[in-house]
Amino acid sequence: MNGDGTMDREALAGALEFYRQSGVDLAFDETPHDRYAESARPQPAPASAPVLARAAPPPPPARPRPAPPAANPALAADAAQIAASAAEQATGARTLDELRARLEAFEGCALKTTATRLVFEDGNRQARVVFVGEAPGAEEDREGRPFVGRAGQLLDRMLDAIGLDRTLVYICNVVPWRPPGNRTPTPQEVAACLPFIRRQVELVDPDILVCLGAPSMQMLLGVKDGILKTRGLWMPYQTTRTIPAMAMLHPAYLLRQPAQKRLAWRDLRALRRVMDGEMPEM
Ligand code: URA
Repeated sequence: MNGDGTMDREALAGALEFYRQSGVDLAFDETPHDRYAESARPQPAPASAPVLARAAPPPPPARPRPAPPAANPALAADAAQIAASAAEQATGARTLDELRARLEAFEGCALKTTATRLVFEDGNRQARVVFVGEAPGAEEDREGRPFVGRAGQLLDRMLDAIGLDRTLVYICNVVPWRPPGNRTPTPQEVAACLPFIRRQVELVDPDILVCLGAPSMQMLLGVKDGILKTRGLWMPYQTTRTIPAMAMLHPAYLLRQPAQKRLAWRDLRALRRVMDGEMPEM
């Protein structure tokens, strides 16, 4: 800190790094606001109250700000309307390219406004196995491809362990836009995207679905139990036909809990066996 109370370069860099590590990596305004101080400030007296103090000087003219984006009727509409519009858009798509174009044009999920770009897919559209994660992170948002950050690198190693790679599988997410600061997408955001991911899986038409992590499992398989209880169990999933689906531990979780990799290894081997012709017990 400098003598005049301002922060020196090193302290500023330290504060920024602290914010980054806490997940604050997007700026929504040019200046920070202390909302606690603002709400603690005495409120102006109601118009009818006697004026006891000299009127405060008028505030300085506001600095010109860029015009806010035009109000979006879809965002203002209620969640049910958004879900209905998403379902109509998604089911109307006849190909993956069409679905992608419809998602690009879809205004029903607010995450689109803070994300850099749509993160739609990676891998082989003719794959027998589809992996569905939760939502893109910072790296994915930069590159526009799912699972390219540290979790994605671990996913690549997991695939490699059972003789697979991205030319043999298809990878996508329940939510195709990055939530700010990698926060968990809200139920409304997921609900708005759900018809699209369902249609995406339907259009790839795989033989096996793998949900990576609890949000993907809960949304696609309708399971309310925790991932540690449900992982490794085969369940029916309805696309144009009934296919076996399994939830596995998310690679990001495995990076934090490496001891749990033994469970992931068990599930990967089960996946390999079903790919090799074993009938899954559902
Ligand atoms: N985690 C996910 O769930 N999806 C990605 O694309 C990256 C990290």
